[in-house]
Amino acid sequence: MCGIVGFNGHHEAAEILLDGLTKLEYRGYDSAGIAVRDGSKDAKIIKAKGRLDHLKEKTDNGRSVAGTCGIGHTRWATHGEPSENNAHPHCSDDGNVIGVHNGIIENYQELKEKLVRNGYRFYSETDTEVAIKLVDYYYKKYLGTPVDAINHALVRIRGSYALELMFKEYPEEIYVARKDSPMILGVADGESFVASDVPAILKHTRTVYYIGNLQMARVGKGEITFYNLDGDEIEIEPKTIEWDAEAAEKSGYEHFMMKEIHEQPKAVADTLHSAVKDGKVDLSELGLTEERIRDFQQIYIVACGSAYHVGVAAQYTIEDLTDIPVRVELASEFRYRHIPLNEKSLVIVISQSGETADSLAALRKAKEKNLTTLGIVNVVGSSIAREADHVFYTLAGPEIAVATTKAYSSQLIATDCIAIYFGSVRGVLSDDRCAELLDALEKIPQQIEKILEDKERLQWFAAKQSNAHDVFFIGRGLDYAATLEGSLKLKEISYVHSEAYAAGELKHGTISLIEDGTLVISVLTQKRLIEKTVSNMVEVKSRGAYLMGLTTYGNYDIEDVADFTTYVPDTDPHFAISLAVVPLQLLAYYFSVSRGLDVDKPRNLAKSVTVE
Ligand code: F6R
Repeated sequence: MCGIVGFNGHHEAAEILLDGLTKLEYRGYDSAGIAVRDGSKDAKIIKAKGRLDHLKEKTDNGRSVAGTCGIGHTRWATHGEPSENNAHPHCSDDGNVIGVHNGIIENYQELKEKLVRNGYRFYSETDTEVAIKLVDYYYKKYLGTPVDAINHALVRIRGSYALELMFKEYPEEIYVARKDSPMILGVADGESFVASDVPAILKHTRTVYYIGNLQMARVGKGEITFYNLDGDEIEIEPKTIEWDAEAAEKSGYEHFMMKEIHEQPKAVADTLHSAVKDGKVDLSELGLTEERIRDFQQIYIVACGSAYHVGVAAQYTIEDLTDIPVRVELASEFRYRHIPLNEKSLVIVISQSGETADSLAALRKAKEKNLTTLGIVNVVGSSIAREADHVFYTLAGPEIAVATTKAYSSQLIATDCIAIYFGSVRGVLSDDRCAELLDALEKIPQQIEKILEDKERLQWFAAKQSNAHDVFFIGRGLDYAATLEGSLKLKEISYVHSEAYAAGELKHGTISLIEDGTLVISVLTQKRLIEKTVSNMVEVKSRGAYLMGLTTYGNYDIEDVADFTTYVPDTDPHFAISLAVVPLQLLAYYFSVSRGLDVDKPRNLAKSVTVE
């Protein structure tokens, strides 16, 4: 949510800032702005409502703004409507402090009242303006350094933030501070870079610093000094980013989402191979001892959105292959609910970004209760990766489209590997069974390739159905988990109302919504449940539904019931969801394209949800 960039060097800043913001636009795109300082002169602030292109037009792609030090922001509105007035950067009344912010200041109302009592006036509805004026207030009150002023403000601010500030009296410097919102810094060739995510600075440097919670930094030209909350200097070790810059480009695809759908075979294979040693699934490198694994009596899987849907699938797989009871929890509920937690529990937090606010809070709650925590995370060095006791990195590479595809698929594989490894360690699975399961997993990448070769029929079907008002997805067992994801993909990028139901639940209410021509998509890969789901298809068909069936090659009888049927290769039922989800992703993609929508940046959404 919200993208932040900063540059302090020898080149013109505006073009570099706009380029960085382009890479971060997936984090929010309802307005954007930059502030650039040219030596000792006043900073120039330029903002525009809407997509980043408006700001680029306004600044002639940055060419009309001179200066080598600047900050930039692309916004996902929290406080105040999307407008130029509410767009960042914001500045104090006399232009002394200028800043951008990602996160939420929870006590902004109380801080605003204090500032109003001290003579401050407010022009926007944002909490960011309050934070910046608070820093200005302390800067003037104590007549100290920017670090002192920021420190005082941080002590008063409740909430989450990645703050990036410029001070009039320090024209050659940028100051940053962070709590619970992502921010990285990098240095290359005497120049410094700030960003809320790796893709924005990847082309300049691969050596980055992850600034910790409640830490600050002074960003000079090519040198960065870090501070703790007491204002003392601290050391932070740089980390090397392995992703290559090309991975964050569209490489000839019309949309990132389609590119990322096609990257799934590689993402899945890389993630799987990271967990295989000497022909066996071996997760000993996670650092969980076999004794601990044998001791677990309960697993909680906690996540949001699509990552939660991975959890729903993993519940079936892990329970089946390990005999450990699993509960899947929405992170936003888990964090506030009173749960009588069993001490011999493992809490698995799944997150692509590793920064989702609710998932991070759930992880912290689990740690407070002394439970063992394992993060399944894609972004190296992210908050969840750093705070979890153990980390399983998915190797999906940077995911840019707001709707997740390849990260989801690699998370599924990660949970499959955990299920096999735990099942083997606990003696539930024999060596032969483990080998059989691994063999099936090894085939998944090429089976996904095969599905991708035959996407034209889905494109045709989506074009025909894209005016649908309501779509229902049904399935049982792991097929139900697939429908949850299929339905979310469809609604988030095509804006068509859709719902996923466990097929047996339909007649407990929802069936009353079925009318003549209502599209019902049925997923049928779980052999022992197919007949049951077919009965549910017949029930809705007799009420007028138009039926699509998604099943495995060989189940040709489905064509007797469904109006349109699509097939995926056969695999072990535990892993069929890794294949079934691909046509559902494609369907959502083609619905969105047919409706002329922005596939990669659906309205009201942002890639990583770092606010509650
Ligand atoms: C949907 C989607 C979201 C994310 C959710 C969690 O396509 O991408 O539902 O899955 O916001 O994000 P992470 O995995 O970053 O915690």
